[in-house]
Parts: sequence; structure tokens; C-alpha cells
Amino acid sequence: MPYQTVKGTYDLLPDQMIRFNMLEDLFRQFLNLYGYGEIKTPVFEYTGVFQKENDTSDMVTKEMYTFSPNGKDSLTLRPEGTAGVIRSFVENKMYGNSEMPLKLGYIEEMFRHERPQKGRQRQFTQMGIECIGDKDPLIDAEVIALGYFYIKTLGIQSVKVLINTLGDQESRLRYKQSLIDYFEPLKDELCTDCQNRLYKNPLRILDCKIDHEKDIIAKAPKMELTESSSKYFEDVKHYLDVLEIPYEVDDRLVRGLDYYTDTVFEVVSTNEVSGSQATIFGGGRYDDLVKEMGGPQISGIGFAIGVERLMILCEAEEIFDYSKSIDCYVINLNEDKDYALSVAEELRNNSFSCEMDYYRRSLKAQFKSSERKNARFVIIIGEDEVKENTVTLKDTLTKAQESVKKDELCERLDQLMEDYYV
Ligand code: HAM
Repeated sequence: MPYQTVKGTYDLLPDQMIRFNMLEDLFRQFLNLYGYGEIKTPVFEYTGVFQKENDTSDMVTKEMYTFSPNGKDSLTLRPEGTAGVIRSFVENKMYGNSEMPLKLGYIEEMFRHERPQKGRQRQFTQMGIECIGDKDPLIDAEVIALGYFYIKTLGIQSVKVLINTLGDQESRLRYKQSLIDYFEPLKDELCTDCQNRLYKNPLRILDCKIDHEKDIIAKAPKMELTESSSKYFEDVKHYLDVLEIPYEVDDRLVRGLDYYTDTVFEVVSTNEVSGSQATIFGGGRYDDLVKEMGGPQISGIGFAIGVERLMILCEAEEIFDYSKSIDCYVINLNEDKDYALSVAEELRNNSFSCEMDYYRRSLKAQFKSSERKNARFVIIIGEDEVKENTVTLKDTLTKAQESVKKDELCERLDQLMEDYYV
């Protein structure tokens, strides 16, 4: 094959697009339900938007598509949505908004140079939210609720919610030190990445894909929370209970990105079809990111759902009960196509989806096409219909056939559809 998609990228063909759009449409409804406005940021940003000093995440250190078209500016295809949204929040001074928190949602393509496998691409789509400006356990619970109830509304059963807290700054600083004290003498047993993470961000060692099964990770000390941090987490859990969202506390959940503070969470698939890429969505709170990006010291929280991973799960759980159909198929038996063309266009102008025969094939062949396209109504136009300014209308559900005046066709279709659904 002379031309192929780049490794880790893929085409979405029309049938898949229908499913993809269905997932996105429902997500947009959820954005609306919870008061989120949609935002679109550029596909590429200055590299500094994503890369912060001392960043230890794989995403930033190994997986970014970074380029310099003029040899001066370093640009990067966005690997995730949060940093771009916060850049926009600060650049557009959205913190001046009197209604806080500000709620922003997005559906966008992301790019990471990862090893491709099922559920892990180099170009993928995230549907995400960022709720910026206030910090309250109620907001954390509401953010988790939006994602959880979205997944449940789709009808997916096999997921579980994992939550944890990374504590406030004081708890985290204390914990970092106790992890350094613990891992320092065991440094040689860690992978090279974790050796690098030891002093920069030892929490990330707990999340290491290579070391995670080692005994030294299992035996690492647990975080001791300050009183206020512990109360905050208890309150988040309380609100999740009020919302009847089942969850498990996973004290090893630290997430793969560096900016998280306090509440972190993931919704993971328990369906074996998801394999090793089971995290359908993940997110958490970030107290310092807005400040780091030049804004005021205000906190935010959000998550992102991986649409491709969600698709795999939806297919496995047979969520998509969809067969493509159209309202009308126009069969034309005349040499002159003008009459059929004007009927088809009139139908479309009245919001009936419609296809027609272009080639004046045999009646049988045109009927076959109407069946393949799953047309609800077939509209037959022969010589008599043109002479009498009528059409023959066949309802494929009731099998009834009738002659209808051309200019009364749309009204009749409305009536038949209405009668059928009462
Ligand atoms: P993340 O955990 O890196 O978080 O990605 C979120 C989701 O994107 C994952 O749970 C997964 O479903 C999907 N995903 C990530 N990488 C890939 C890939 N290579 N192929 C397919 N799907 C993938 C973030 O990106 C944060 N920005 C989420 C967030 C928003 N935190 C706060 N606000």
C-alpha cells in the first residue's frame, strides 16, 4: 500500500463517526447540565505551556511532539487539555469573571509519542472539563459526578471509581521527605526514571509502570495527612456518598502528571476487553497550576475521558444499538429526472433525510437500494405520478401504499410518523 496512516493514528470511518458523535453529543449535554461552557484552544502551543521546570512525568519528558519551524520558537502539539485551558484562562483574564468557579469543557485531539497498542494511540481524543476558581469538596464531588453519571447514562456497567488524596502542601512536603528517606538506601533497586524522580517528585515512584510490582513500592510509607487535608478528603467522600457514587480509596493512586494536589481520581474499566489500558478517565485538583502559569493563586479541578478507550468499552458492552437509516428513498422510473429531483429537495427542505436514484435503474434495483439504506418511506415516481402531480408513497413499516399529492407529501409524512409513535 503506497500511503498509510502514521503509526498510532487511525481513520474514523462513517459508521465509527456515528458512534463517536453519539459519545460527544451526550458529553455536550452533560456539559450543559452542569453549567460548563465549551472552549477550543490551539492544537499547538509554546512548549513551555506544557513543560515546567523539574517536570518528571513521562508525558512531558518523553512523549511530546515538539518542533521548531523557524529554528527559534519551540512549539508542541498538545499532549493534554488542562495546560492549554489554563493558559487561555490566564491570558484572557477569565479570573476577573464575577461568577466563580469558571467551568470550561472541551473535546479535542491530543498527541503523545507513546508505544501504540489497543486503547493507546499517538493521536487520541479527550473530552474534558476544568472547574477553575474555587476550592471546595463539593466541587470535587460534582466534577467526579459529571464524569461518572455520563458513563452510567451511556449504560456502561463495568467501571469502578478510584479516589485518593495527595494532601495539601504541608502533608505533601512531609510525605515527599519520608519517601526520599525510605527510597534513598534502596535507590539501586529502582528503574532509571524512578532514580531521577527520587528528589524531584518521589510520589511519582509509586505510579511507576516498571517498578509498580516490586516489594519496595508495596512497603513504602503511606501519606500522613494534616487535619485540614484529612477533613477535606472526608468531605469529598461524604458528598460522593450523598450522590450515591460508589468508590474505592486507592492510597497508591498518584496519577501520571505532576500538577496534582489533594483529590485525585480515576474511573477504570473492569471489563477484560480494556486490557492494560483500563483507565477510561482520570483527573484531579491542581492548586498551583494557575499561579505557575502567571495567574493568581487559585485552584482548579478537572478530568479527561479518553474517547477511544470509551469506544472500546462501549462496543464490548453493546451500548450502541444503532442501525443507520434514512426517512425517504425516492425511486425514479422516468427518463426525465427533474420531478424526482424537486421531490427529493422538497423533502430535505422539510427536514426529512432523503436519498434518490441517480441513474434510473430497474425498479427492483432501486427497491434494493432503499432496503440497504434502511429507508422508512419509499417514494415512487413513474410516468403517471408526473402527469398527475402526485407520488406513490410506501410505508415500509406498515407496508401500506397510497397516492399523495406532491405538495401534500411532507404533511402526510409528518402525520404518518406521528401516528406511528403514539
Ligand atoms: P491523563 O490521565 O493523562 O490526564 O489522560 C486522561 C485520559 O486520556 C486517560 O484516562 C485515557 O483515557 C486517555 N488517554 C491518555 N493517553 C492516551 C493515549 N495515548 N491513547 C488513548 N487514550 C489516552 C490528563 O490528560 C489530564 N489533563 C486530565 C485532567 C484534566 N486533569 C485535570 N483536568
